[in-house]
Amino acid sequence: MNLEDVRKSYKFYAPIYDLVFGRIVEEGRRRAVEAVCRAPGDRILEIGVGTGRSLRYYKPDVEVTGIDVSPEMLERARKRYLSDRYPHVKALLKMDAQELEFPDNSFDGAVAMYVASVVPDPEAMVREMHRVCKPGAPFVILNHFASDRGVFRQVERRFAPLSRRLGFRPDFCLNQFVATVGRAPAKVSRVNLGGYWKLLEFRVPNEKNGSNGSNGHA
Ligand SMILES: C[S@@+](CC[C@H](N)C(=O)[O-])C[C@H]1O[C@@H](n2cnc3c(N)ncnc32)[C@H](O)[C@@H]1O
Repeated sequence: MNLEDVRKSYKFYAPIYDLVFGRIVEEGRRRAVEAVCRAPGDRILEIGVGTGRSLRYYKPDVEVTGIDVSPEMLERARKRYLSDRYPHVKALLKMDAQELEFPDNSFDGAVAMYVASVVPDPEAMVREMHRVCKPGAPFVILNHFASDRGVFRQVERRFAPLSRRLGFRPDFCLNQFVATVGRAPAKVSRVNLGGYWKLLEFRVPNEKNGSNGSNGHA
């Protein structure tokens, strides 16, 4: 799946996205926002903000910048959330998560909800999230990861070859992703519909070194 596939998929999904993927995974969005916000005045980066479903969950005392590569998804978010009713939404920008246009150490926290299995290069996304976050900042990933066994595993395997058309990778592997991040999450919680999705809470190291901020300890 490349960036063009992503844009095509989400151009298709944009008009129906909230109907299909709205309420059903809403609990995860609320909890991801809670996990990434630590203090009033925090500057938070939301990667792959989509139609902006999560934006209502931030408190008014933080400042949120959302980015996405899909103009159609972003347009929906802008129409709804760039208004006086949501003064905490600072900007909604068209930008590639794999090459963020922000300087190092710009944010107090970063979050990606249902994006890790969509973005063509999750490693580049993680590297960029680390780069633009301040040392010690929370770094939160909410996603579905491949099941270990059972009927879900079979379904995910069957759909895996269709990921370009689906717009996400149904067989996205947690262990592989954690290896990419280079350290184990401080906390893992199961969310949405009996826990089929996982909320991973990481922290950017206090002393940043290495390309993904990793200190090499998993
Ligand atoms: C499944 S949607 C999730 C949207 C939103 N986070 C939510 O909770 O509904 C995935 C989003 O990630 C965006 N995306 C995928 N790859 C991206 C990239 N490289 N840079 C920025 N956004 C990306 C897609 O355009 C899409 O809006």
